Amino acid sequence: MPRRPLVAGNWKMNGLLASLAEIAAMGAAYDDVLKEKAELIVCPPATLVGLAVELTARGAIGLGAQDCHPLASGAHTGDISAEMLKNAGASYVIVGHSERRADHAETDAIVQAKATAALRAGLTPIICVGETRAEREAGDALGVVGAQIEGSLPADAPGTIVVAYEPVWAIGTGLTPTLADVAQMHAFARERIEARLGGGKGATVRILYGGSVKPANARELMGVGNVDGALVGGASLTAKDFMAIADAYR
Ligand code: PGA
Repeated sequence: MPRRPLVAGNWKMNGLLASLAEIAAMGAAYDDVLKEKAELIVCPPATLVGLAVELTARGAIGLGAQDCHPLASGAHTGDISAEMLKNAGASYVIVGHSERRADHAETDAIVQAKATAALRAGLTPIICVGETRAEREAGDALGVVGAQIEGSLPADAPGTIVVAYEPVWAIGTGLTPTLADVAQMHAFARERIEARLGGGKGATVRILYGGSVKPANARELMGVGNVDGALVGGASLTAKDFMAIADAYR
């Protein structure tokens, strides 16, 4: 089974009610030709997930969230569980984004617990990994990402989970790794995913590239071996740019 490319938009802490019009426009532009080539999802802030359901279903775009709590419910003020996101209409959830690892001190163990919660609730986790600039410059990029895969993926995860390789230094900076570096990292990640999950699942897990994906570089990045799609931040906020990126698969 070939892996179906996935282009996912991560809106981060952006988006008000008026932004729902962008999601509607994405749905309208997601035509049958593109649907055959790639899956598209958008991950707005939690405030918009429930409201985006109807819009995304109409365009058959998938809907995801950006984080979830490991537990299903309880005394955790301000947190949102995977079960709540599922109930609101999400089918994916991003876990372990580098901004959460940094801003909320999320460790691999916490990320793994969140990914486990997502699976329990019937959501597909998009598990993020990636090295910092200092780690790359020290020659540690593969080691860091390998350890994050080992620590962040639930050992019994199905081959339907998604992993996103996002070098921290490429996020929101306009910088991207060389295509050779992307190819090396994605091939390595696939090996490490197989080592972690076994049973041939390494061949079925989709590995997204994220970090300054734009309409101008999407085609070349998506053309790299073992790159099964993109996790797009800034350029996913408008339907115009997001759909121009998705068009790399057209
Ligand atoms: P960026 O963000 O596309 O704005 O670099 C990517 C991400 O953080 O998922």
